[in-house]
Amino acid sequence: MVTIITRLFNTGGSKVALTSRPRGTNDIIPGEIELWLDLEQKIRTVCHAYGYKELRTPMFEHTELFQRGIGDTTDIVEKEMYTFIDRGQRSITLRPEGTAPLVRAYIENNLGSGALPVKLFYYGPMFRYERPQAGRYRQFTQFGCEALGSADPLLDVETIALPLEIYQACGLSGFEVQLNSIGCPECRATYREALIVYFEPLEDKVCGSCQGRLHRNPLRLLDCKVEACQANILDAPNIIEYLCLDCADHFSQVRTYLDQLNIPYTLNPRLVRGFDYYTRTVFEVTSSELGSQNAIGGGGRYDGLVEEVGGKPTPAVGYAVGVDRLLLALKSQNKIHLSLPGPNLYVVHFGGDTKLKAAQIAHILRGRGLWIELDHSDRSVKAQMKAANKLDSQYVLVIGEEELANNQAVLRNMKNRQEQPVALDDLETLTKNVGVCGK
Ligand code: HAM
Repeated sequence: MVTIITRLFNTGGSKVALTSRPRGTNDIIPGEIELWLDLEQKIRTVCHAYGYKELRTPMFEHTELFQRGIGDTTDIVEKEMYTFIDRGQRSITLRPEGTAPLVRAYIENNLGSGALPVKLFYYGPMFRYERPQAGRYRQFTQFGCEALGSADPLLDVETIALPLEIYQACGLSGFEVQLNSIGCPECRATYREALIVYFEPLEDKVCGSCQGRLHRNPLRLLDCKVEACQANILDAPNIIEYLCLDCADHFSQVRTYLDQLNIPYTLNPRLVRGFDYYTRTVFEVTSSELGSQNAIGGGGRYDGLVEEVGGKPTPAVGYAVGVDRLLLALKSQNKIHLSLPGPNLYVVHFGGDTKLKAAQIAHILRGRGLWIELDHSDRSVKAQMKAANKLDSQYVLVIGEEELANNQAVLRNMKNRQEQPVALDDLETLTKNVGVCGK
């Protein structure tokens, strides 16, 4: 019986086992990582087609960026940020999302000085202190695309089309685009008043957070996740009826382009999204495969954010895909079929001088980019052949004392079982043979 000794350590009052990762985080182990890399590759291919260039920002930023950008009264800023004071007494936050950091980088690096719009994408981990459950983690990965410098409604539609292309490239089905417009600060001011008038008589029926936000930011009451609050939202005023002429026209153009491109969507007047930076179009994509955490991505227009962060007025629109959730949805649809090739060559040796020769061959062929495996555990020839099979190696080369003395060994193609003699010092021929896939 194997006994695992778990060492418990005290960290600020609670005991943690060194062998368990923090709650809400995941390890991505070999066998799994290939799915992530494959998905990342598909994302890059689609971004290339749409002309988006990658941008990488730090994983942490000054806390104020998120307070100002996302909004003080949002759930993320009020409850979910990983914030700490660093040794220089600055307040630092692990990024909970990628849009505000990208906007900061856009301004700081003067990326808007050339032709507009500037189309950028990012891919990486985000951090939110949420209650972990299936599809909701404290560290998760987002792919995001953001187009800055144009108010064209067609750009809103391209921002919806791009992730849909990714979902389709992965083979995902059963997803739905939810669409709404939340107007501009002008028309939203009237809507805000209407919401306050509607919610005031319900004040004692909504949760504590909603009570606190009722006068400061009544829109947030519409995306409160507390069950008791949901019922009160049903009869709330509909934002579409409060849109000013310009916002209504923008929304109508977005819908015309969506229809023209045959992109199906569902209007959802309750969709407000959990960030204060949004203006006009907002959208979310949900998957029928996931439970309560069914959003596999979301985004919208944010025409005021660049100015809010300190840049010139710059309209912008973007979207972020939740990569962890996308993989969960693909798995539950059984849409993940990766066939990974094994090593090009497994060099079987008998130890001693034959191992030296095997090491030399492996070293040189690896330098040429080929995947070469050999034994490090003094295993028998039989066990090495078994290991080569298990790894699905395309070729096997057996080097015994006799082969070494004659400078001649047999190269076996593991797929069609054909064998051919090779000179051990003729690495050009060996490279050519094992460099082509034997499948
Ligand atoms: P978001 O809706 O908060 O938007 O996140 C986008 C996606 O990230 C969600 O639809 C979900 O799939 C995934 N996600 C969010 N939180 C978690 C979590 N705790 N665990 C696992 N997955 C999660 C944004 O972040 C905006 N920055 C999107 C955007 C880009 N808007 C404009 N540009």
